[in-house]
Amino acid sequence: MRINDPKLLGPLAELGIELRPAAKLSELTSLGIGGTTDLLRITKHETIPELLQLLDANHIAHKFLGGGSNLLVDDGELPWVVLQLVPPEPDVVLEGNLAHVDAAADLGRTVTFCAKHDLGGMEGLIGVPGTVGGALRMNAGAYGMQIGTYVREVKLYRAATRKIETFRGHQISFEYRHTSFATDDMMLAVILELPSKPYNEILKGIRICNEKRRSSQPLGQKSAGCIFKNPPGASAGRMIDELGLKGLSFGDARVSDRHANFFVNTGHASAKDMLALIADVRERVQEAYGVMLENEVVVWNG
Ligand code: EPU
Repeated sequence: MRINDPKLLGPLAELGIELRPAAKLSELTSLGIGGTTDLLRITKHETIPELLQLLDANHIAHKFLGGGSNLLVDDGELPWVVLQLVPPEPDVVLEGNLAHVDAAADLGRTVTFCAKHDLGGMEGLIGVPGTVGGALRMNAGAYGMQIGTYVREVKLYRAATRKIETFRGHQISFEYRHTSFATDDMMLAVILELPSKPYNEILKGIRICNEKRRSSQPLGQKSAGCIFKNPPGASAGRMIDELGLKGLSFGDARVSDRHANFFVNTGHASAKDMLALIADVRERVQEAYGVMLENEVVVWNG
C-alpha cells in the first residue's frame, strides 16, 4: 500500500514520522519472506494516537512491526502499511534493580547491557532474536525462564481506547508464549525488575545457553525460531522429528535438519511455500498423534 496523498504526507512529516516507501518486508524479517508496503517509522511515542487517527480517517490499515523475528508475512503488494518504532538513544536506562527499556530495544543487547551492570535473570533469552517489545508481547522464554517474570510495568498504545496506557506487572497475565495483551496493543516501553548477580556469574549462564542453542538450533539460517508452540507436556520438534519430516520442503521452505520445529528459508521461499509446509506438517502431526499444533509464529496474510 502506498501513501502518496499530499493531504497525508504533510501531517505525517509534522508528526516527525519517517516514511519509507515500498519497503521490502523480506528485508525486515528474519525468515526473509514478505512483500512490499510503505513503512512508517515513529520516533516519539506520544505521536501514535494522532498518527493512528490520521490513518483511520484515510482508511489506511496498519500493522505493528517489532524485530520481525517471529513473523511470516504474505507475498506481493501488501494491503496495509507497517508501523515501526525507532529506538531512542539510550534505549535502556538503569535505576538500581530496575531497567527502563524502550520496546524497540534489541533483546540480546538489553540482556548483555543489564548483565554488565550486574543485573541477571534473563540469561536464557540471550540468543532470542528480536526486540524487547516483541519478547514482551508473546512472553518469550527459553531454558526455564520467561521475560514476564521480571515485568514491573508496561507502557503501551491500546487501540481499543486509542490511548497510551500504563499497566503494572500484576495486571498482565504472562503464560507460556501467551499474554493478556490485546493483539492490536502496541508495546512502547517496559520496566523490568532484575535480580542482582555478579557479571561473571551471569556470563557463565549466558555461555551455557548459547552453547545449548548452537548445538540444537539452525542459527545461521533464515528462520522465525520455532514455528509451533509445544503442546502441553510434549515437544513439537520431537514429534515432527519422530515422523521423519526433517528436510521436508515446499519450494525453498524446509523443515530444518537440525531442529524439526524450525522451518528455514533456504533461498527464495515465498509465504505460500512456508504456509504450505506449515499446513502439511500440522496435518501429519494431527494424523499421527491426534494433536493439533498451534502456530507460535505470527502470520500476516490478509
Ligand atoms: N528434539 C528432537 N528433535 C528435534 C528437536 C528437538 O528430538 O528436531 C527433542 C530434543 O532432543 C529434546 C526435546 O525435543 O529432548 C526438546 O527440544 P529443545 O530442548 O530444543 O526444546 P523445544 O521444546 O523444541 C523450546 C522452545 C525454544 C527454546 C528451547 C530452549 C518452544 C516452541 N520452543 O524448544 O524456543 O529456545 O525450548 O528452551 O517453546 C522459540 O520460541 O522460537 C524457540 C525456539
